[in-house]
Amino acid sequence: MKLTEQQKNRVEDLLSRMTLEEKIGQMNLESPSIVGGFDVPFEELIEMMTDGRISQEEFQKIMSTATRDFHEEDIRAGLVGAMMGDDPVKANELQKIAVEESRLGIPLIMGFDVIHGLRTVYPIAIAEAGAFDEDLFERTARIAARESRAHGIGWNFAPMIDVARDCRWGRVSEGPGEDAYLASRFARAKIRGLQNDRTSPENYVAACLKHYVAYSACESGRDYNTTSMSISQLHNVYLPPFKAAVEEGAASAMASFNDLNGVPCTVNPYTLRELLKGAYGMDGFVVSDANGIKECVTHGIAEDDRDAGIQSANAGLDMDMGTHIYKDYLKEAVESGAVSMEVLDDAVRRILSVKMWLGLFENPYVSEEAIARYAGKIPAEHAETALEAAKKSIVLLKNEGNVLPLSKKQKISLVGNLAASEEEIIGAWAMSWRNEDCVSILEGLKNSGAEVSYYPCGGPEGEINADEIARACGEGDVVVAVVGELVSMSGEASSKANVELPGKQREMLSLLLEKTRAAGKKLVTVLMNGRPLALGWEEEHLPVLVEAWHLGVQMGNAVAAVLTGEENPSGKLASSFPSVNGQCPIYYSHPNTGRPGSKSKFTSRYLDAPFDALFPFGYGLSYTTFAYSELKAEEDKDCLRVAVRVKNTGDRKGTEVVQLYMQDVTASLVRPVKELKGFSRVELEAGEERTVNLELKKQDMGFYNNQGEYVLEDGLFRIYAGGNSRDCLCAEIRVNF
Ligand code: NOJ
Repeated sequence: MKLTEQQKNRVEDLLSRMTLEEKIGQMNLESPSIVGGFDVPFEELIEMMTDGRISQEEFQKIMSTATRDFHEEDIRAGLVGAMMGDDPVKANELQKIAVEESRLGIPLIMGFDVIHGLRTVYPIAIAEAGAFDEDLFERTARIAARESRAHGIGWNFAPMIDVARDCRWGRVSEGPGEDAYLASRFARAKIRGLQNDRTSPENYVAACLKHYVAYSACESGRDYNTTSMSISQLHNVYLPPFKAAVEEGAASAMASFNDLNGVPCTVNPYTLRELLKGAYGMDGFVVSDANGIKECVTHGIAEDDRDAGIQSANAGLDMDMGTHIYKDYLKEAVESGAVSMEVLDDAVRRILSVKMWLGLFENPYVSEEAIARYAGKIPAEHAETALEAAKKSIVLLKNEGNVLPLSKKQKISLVGNLAASEEEIIGAWAMSWRNEDCVSILEGLKNSGAEVSYYPCGGPEGEINADEIARACGEGDVVVAVVGELVSMSGEASSKANVELPGKQREMLSLLLEKTRAAGKKLVTVLMNGRPLALGWEEEHLPVLVEAWHLGVQMGNAVAAVLTGEENPSGKLASSFPSVNGQCPIYYSHPNTGRPGSKSKFTSRYLDAPFDALFPFGYGLSYTTFAYSELKAEEDKDCLRVAVRVKNTGDRKGTEVVQLYMQDVTASLVRPVKELKGFSRVELEAGEERTVNLELKKQDMGFYNNQGEYVLEDGLFRIYAGGNSRDCLCAEIRVNF
């Protein structure tokens, strides 16, 4: 975040004129409270419904009679620094109060969860990351930034860059997968997309890195659970995307709910002050997660709300989301010396600097023209990018007998009630989409000109309809079954102990298989889900599997393009898939152990399940095939130059994601069997062969030890290249640093 001297002076001038209350006001993030029978934050109301304190009917009744309190009085009094919301008209109204009616006229910063698009919802991050396409990551973020600004949002609670290795955790859907390197490249690209087009204040927002940190390492994949790990693991796996994003200029971060080795991240001076603001040099501000400060009392680290507030402020937590603890207790805490004025000024300076950098002082309002831009459908070029992203995110897992692509002449029986749904293509954490922009799979197939009949038959919940299944198999030339998860089955507070296909869908697939076989027809299975699923049974029995995730508004057109062959799939998995539940967590980049898993008895294995992933990280097929040869790794001054020949051995053009991995064979700490260190998307004509060159900087061949120091150790390295993390060529090289 670069401020001009003049902007810096303005921040200092404001700071010098602010009262203590006004300073604390800047540290207060409000959301509209629902007023009616209840005066509690909306999140709490939802919680009350979820935990049964009120029924769903009661909740709906409250919502229909309730009005919203936007805290206008507090805004006028300078006691609010930030507000949640996605309504541009409301944003302008509230901003007017802040700018024209508060004593110092400091604008609000409006924040919102724009995780994978606002109106133009593109694929969930775990899917998009599988495109291995930084330019795409950046472009989708740029669209999100523009749409956000047009809705009054200057601060996106994104990117979510938690490296996640346990697919029981529902929030794997929101992040870029299991790998620290891919997540770091993803994080950098998202920051560029959200923040870097500063040609107009309409084009950029402040990003908010979340959830800082190690939230995804929650024990047993249960959301909000405790997190314990070595310092080396923290630095090698969970911190790198955050460090990378700060280097790229990220303007803010959100402290995560979890405790890390016993210290909740909300009050953690090591992660907040020492690393994020100290070693990494983040000059923006840190916000708590919703209710995070108060939860420190429940964690058992703070005696009461006041204590939690004092610990948070002193640890470097600049803004309070949703508890009013700063508002209620910081004044007394500063006056009594429990929190110093330097701490407070540092927090406020950071918040004001972000507002200044966003141009909010000069351009606090959304223009009528910008509001009008999104009155109807999303702009065509946004839909196009969403379509490109959706196509590139689809992963072909299995295509026995080359059933796919379908020929134009084949009549399709489309099965499964997910196939006609617009709501279920969107994915977790998207709230501002509209049906008019959504293309279901059924609609997408129709748009492609395919002849298609639709049979709901069943879905993730409820019963299946055997008669309809029989009819579907009797009537078409090919059956396309769409199965998976509802959007509500992944995302926050949606951890699962069972990550197999939910409900009776396996039974439905079994019946479909039996009936299509009897009729001599082919069965294609399309998966729509927010997490890696345990697909052991499906992989064993079903001939064709297409992983289509939750792809956003253009999902239907993208799936149709892949099924009909208009698009040759190129997506790869950003996360390993287990065969069965008990293999979780599972990831490719694990240590070797003294007894690597094998078929022998006394090795690191299960008696009743395979030891490796069903589909590993980086995996994904194409309608053509690629062959790798002649891997070379040569030492240059500051890097290794890696070259590998890649040939398209099939009969159609295709794109391959060439992946470069490394293993530090002997080191002072046990290192992973493989670590991703580079990748390149390569398009090859049928029969074309090319040398793909990748550079591995020597500086990137080290690791963090348990003192949190980055070390480069001389010795033997294995260099791998291939189309996924399992099937690679290998070369060995000794390196002295
Ligand atoms: C809770 C979630 O953990 C976080 O990701 C989100 O940004 C905030 N709530 C605000 O909605």
